[in-house]
Amino acid sequence: MGLRKILNDKDPALHKVCKPVENFDEKLHKLLNDMRETLIDSDGVGLAAPQVGILRRVVLVDNGEKILELINPTLLETSGEQIGAEGCLSVPGKYGLVKRPNYAKVRAQDRYGNWFETDGEELTARCFCHELDHLDGILYTQVMERLLTEEELMEY
Ligand code: NI
Repeated sequence: MGLRKILNDKDPALHKVCKPVENFDEKLHKLLNDMRETLIDSDGVGLAAPQVGILRRVVLVDNGEKILELINPTLLETSGEQIGAEGCLSVPGKYGLVKRPNYAKVRAQDRYGNWFETDGEELTARCFCHELDHLDGILYTQVMERLLTEEELMEY
């Protein structure tokens, strides 16, 4: 177990396309355990491996019930639309106005390589989209409408 350092958006690791996970081994399990600890410690709702400098297709999403481990995830289905405040642990202190689908269904592997599907609405759907974007080197600041002002943030 151990906390990993969260890189900020100046780091080149956050702008690269990540490679698929091929080995569902101890090293992956250690990464997932460390990412879980780091996510809880930072009070976030999601974390992607490139944010801790690992260029592999691994994300965690807290769906409100538990922290999902999504390996090699893809978006299967999206519907609806939501526009709201979005932040990122790699862009500390800032929030942007980002349009996302209101519903998203994801297919992914678990830490043992078994495929499964999961879905969510609102914040969870937003989080799936945000974290999957990280795996392709995309930050919300590249897809947002604009940054939010302090005053607007108080409303959200
Ligand atoms: Ni992020």
